[in-house]
Amino acid sequence: MIRFVTATLFAASACRADGGGALPEVARPAPATASLRIREDSLIPRDPVGAAIRRGRAILAATADSLPANVGNALRCTSCHLRDGTTTDAAPWVGVYSRFPQYRSRNAKVNQIQDRINDCFQRSLNGKALAWDSPDMAAIVAYLAFLSRGVAPPGDVPGQGFRKMEPLRPDTAHGRLVYAGQCARCHGGDGQGMTNPDPTGSPRYYPPVFGPRSFNVGAGMARLRTAASFVRFNMPFDRPGTITDQDAFDVAGYLVTRPRPDFVGKEHDWPKGDPPPDVAYSTPAGPAKAPR
Ligand code: HEC
Ligand code: HEC
Repeated sequence: MIRFVTATLFAASACRADGGGALPEVARPAPATASLRIREDSLIPRDPVGAAIRRGRAILAATADSLPANVGNALRCTSCHLRDGTTTDAAPWVGVYSRFPQYRSRNAKVNQIQDRINDCFQRSLNGKALAWDSPDMAAIVAYLAFLSRGVAPPGDVPGQGFRKMEPLRPDTAHGRLVYAGQCARCHGGDGQGMTNPDPTGSPRYYPPVFGPRSFNVGAGMARLRTAASFVRFNMPFDRPGTITDQDAFDVAGYLVTRPRPDFVGKEHDWPKGDPPPDVAYSTPAGPAKAPR
């Protein structure tokens, strides 16, 4: 009843789709030990909770169509939480419901899962918080709880969040070349995104990675280490795991220094003065430094 998905499976299928030998010879990710337990749709109950679970999953994959007033850019939740939040090393939602309430240093408070969801609405989707008591919030929480139920007590799963990497100094000028060579074919020369030119292709849409329709400067993905790890293990979408650690940091360095929407109030982040070293803006700890 429970499907096991490993990062190696994704890598292997990417190689097959590519014809195998055409891949550049670069270091591959360490063999994945991560394996997520994905609960099958047959476990979704046939009752109002089940209807909410399905509605929640639909909102997360078609966020702007479902909630136009809450989305301020051209991304959807699953632009980063890949494949409905079931992908290792892409901040999977499997187990996430059991990881809240949780203390977060960014606001120095105990956060509930609704706070975390709204953080991504306001920063990653550059939009507006969803009312806690709305049926749509209940639906999103119902889907995250469904993915989490029974799979990972007390909540930590392998492949959770983003994979830790040894931080490298980014060469942003080289990152620009990596972007032009490996990313622009899907995300566009100006980072603006595009519709998949293959009408039968999936996904149908490649989201903007910088510029006015992308995530804002306060988003987690606007941090060097987060972007580098996401890109290293998930991009290019059709050949994940084929770029080097250094190229991932270089292209991440390029992405996080491109223009993107501002986030009003970011100067209050990490009020206890403990920002991570890859935050690019001023906080109560002091003025902005080059992210590292
Ligand atoms: C631009 C990329 C991006 C988009 C789009 C995005 N997120 Fe996130 N999300 C992140 C990052 C980065 C994190 C932090 C993960 C970490 O550091 O472990 C995160 C974390 C989360 C978490 C906590 C995960 C955990 O393991 O603790 C939840 C829940 C979440 N996001 C929900 C959403 C929802 C709901 C949406 C749509 C409204 C959304 N996200 C859109 C990047 C994104
Ligand atoms: C084959 C097309 C393709 C290529 C090439 C590609 N991506 Fe992506 N990328 C995608 C798709 C598709 C998504 C969103 C997945 C979804 O919506 O299901 C995405 C999502 C992203 C995101 C998170 C969402 C956002 O818009 O910010 C970032 C960041 C990103 N890609 C960076 C890169 C970088 C850097 C490269 C080059 C190393 C790259 N991508 C190459 C297709 C591609």
